[in-house]
Amino acid sequence: MFWCAFVVFFLALGNELHLSHATEVSVNNTENKLCLYANLMVNFSVTYEVGVNKSETVLFVLPENVTTEGSICNNTTSTLKLGFGDGHSWAVEFTKDNKTYQVDSIVFTYNLKDSSVFTNSTSNETKSVTAKPRITNVGVDTYYSCKSENVQRVESVTQTLYDVTLQAFVTNGSKSDTDTVCTADLTSTTVAPTTTVTTTAAPTSTPTPTLPTPTTGNYSIAPDFNSTACLMATFGLRIGFKQGDKVETINLVPSATEVGGACGVNSSILILTSDTINIMFTFSNDSKKFHLHALNVTVKPATGVAVVAANTNMSIWVAAVGSSYMCNKEQTLTVTETLTLYTFKLRVQPFGVEKGEFATAHECSLDDTSILIPVIVGAALAILILIVVIAYVIGRRKTYVGYQTL
Ligand SMILES: *[C@@H]1O[C@H](CO)[C@@H](O)[C@H](O)[C@H]1NC(C)=O
Ligand SMILES: *[C@@H]1O[C@H](CO)[C@@H](O)[C@H](O)[C@H]1NC(C)=O
Ligand SMILES: *[C@@H]1O[C@H](CO)[C@@H](O)[C@H](O)[C@H]1NC(C)=O
Ligand SMILES: *[C@@H]1O[C@H](CO)[C@@H](O)[C@H](O)[C@H]1NC(C)=O
Ligand SMILES: *[C@@H]1O[C@H](CO)[C@@H](O)[C@H](O)[C@H]1NC(C)=O
Ligand SMILES: *[C@@H]1O[C@H](CO)[C@@H](O)[C@H](O)[C@H]1NC(C)=O
Ligand SMILES: *[C@@H]1O[C@H](CO)[C@@H](O)[C@H](O)[C@H]1NC(C)=O
Ligand SMILES: *[C@@H]1O[C@H](CO)[C@@H](O)[C@H](O)[C@H]1NC(C)=O
Repeated sequence: MFWCAFVVFFLALGNELHLSHATEVSVNNTENKLCLYANLMVNFSVTYEVGVNKSETVLFVLPENVTTEGSICNNTTSTLKLGFGDGHSWAVEFTKDNKTYQVDSIVFTYNLKDSSVFTNSTSNETKSVTAKPRITNVGVDTYYSCKSENVQRVESVTQTLYDVTLQAFVTNGSKSDTDTVCTADLTSTTVAPTTTVTTTAAPTSTPTPTLPTPTTGNYSIAPDFNSTACLMATFGLRIGFKQGDKVETINLVPSATEVGGACGVNSSILILTSDTINIMFTFSNDSKKFHLHALNVTVKPATGVAVVAANTNMSIWVAAVGSSYMCNKEQTLTVTETLTLYTFKLRVQPFGVEKGEFATAHECSLDDTSILIPVIVGAALAILILIVVIAYVIGRRKTYVGYQTL
């Protein structure tokens, strides 16, 4: 008896652990290339009849092991159909237009005859409910990502979707590296700024092809209220990002940007937040030199889908600790395939700022060429003078020799 309870306990525990796993599936098209991908968790709550005017509610999760039979990949419509248990299924219908795709509906079908789930059910029917979750505007060739819970209540069924990664219309047979993040995730991860400048300016997302040069912003972080800056940065910033197959650009408006961050011994962080742009710079101090180590950028355009890009393996803006890094020329930083940063009149010092002033600057090679040009011109001039002098000397000697022979 005891033993039995023990086994049951462990089975239940095992089941519980098993249940908390995500469901990951890949569907290939007729050419055997990946066309649908999902990694997600779904909790179901279903109320069903167990007698006259008597009902029960059962909770269960989408199991780890599901079948994908009945899934279909077409050019503009796709269905991800996950079958599980005794005749239950969960089917997601996708449609696509030029730049984006969306989930039209989720059809959950459950078989009340399955007594392992619906104990004492008086019905032996198979029922279906259709939910319409708001999963829209997912950029083509990106995957939809949503850690937040998305709760769908339809009739006697409640479905909770969370930790969702979903990609339909996969191109080239491999899952995209870029995600379209759901708004719920974006609002829940907004960073708390330490310094507020102003937040009055209008959004800057008019995607005109000829954007003016972005305004240079001055940003600094102080360890506490009374201290002078420990991190300083000045630059103008433009971001280019893909929306479908179009590239759009947006400028950061310093007057409508909040500054946050922290100074550390081994790493310092600068966070800039505006209505449309959220960017985090992580600098590393490798004892003698510093560099920009990581960038995490979120662009939320007024229209279209949010773009998130992160690169945690960068080695740019290198200069000695105790000096600053400077690049007056426009600099292009490719963060990911879908997002590029352009900096203007850049100067940063993430470590060892004293008296609130920049230390001597290490200039980027782009700027160096402007110094190189006078050097080249000078060298050319020097050579020219040398040639003239040599020619003159040779000329003089010739005439001298001439005189002698005469
Ligand atoms: C989903 O169900 C599992 C197991 O019942 C539970 O641990 C988890 O907290 C539930 N998650 C949500 C978001 O309801
Ligand atoms: C069941 O509920 C209906 C109305 O909701 C009521 O008229 C009926 O008497 C109830 N039946 C029983 C057996 O309680
Ligand atoms: C389903 O239930 C109905 C009564 O509710 C019964 O007449 C029928 O035989 C059942 N069908 C099966 C396949 O069990
Ligand atoms: C900041 O400076 C003010 C006066 O200048 C002083 O009263 C206060 O104690 C200082 N605060 C800290 C945290 O040093
Ligand atoms: C900084 O890095 C050095 C060496 O990598 C390490 O010894 C030290 O503890 C680190 N300091 C902090 C504050 O993390
Ligand atoms: C940079 O790191 C070294 C050790 O890794 C440390 O001695 C030095 O103080 C750090 N510089 C600053 C400005 O924090
Ligand atoms: C980038 O930022 C987003 C949201 O702020 C976060 O979810 C994500 O984990 C970050 N990525 C990296 C690589 O730090
Ligand atoms: C980071 O980049 C270096 C070379 O630039 C490469 O060797 C290394 O594997 C990369 N690391 C990661 C985690 O991508």
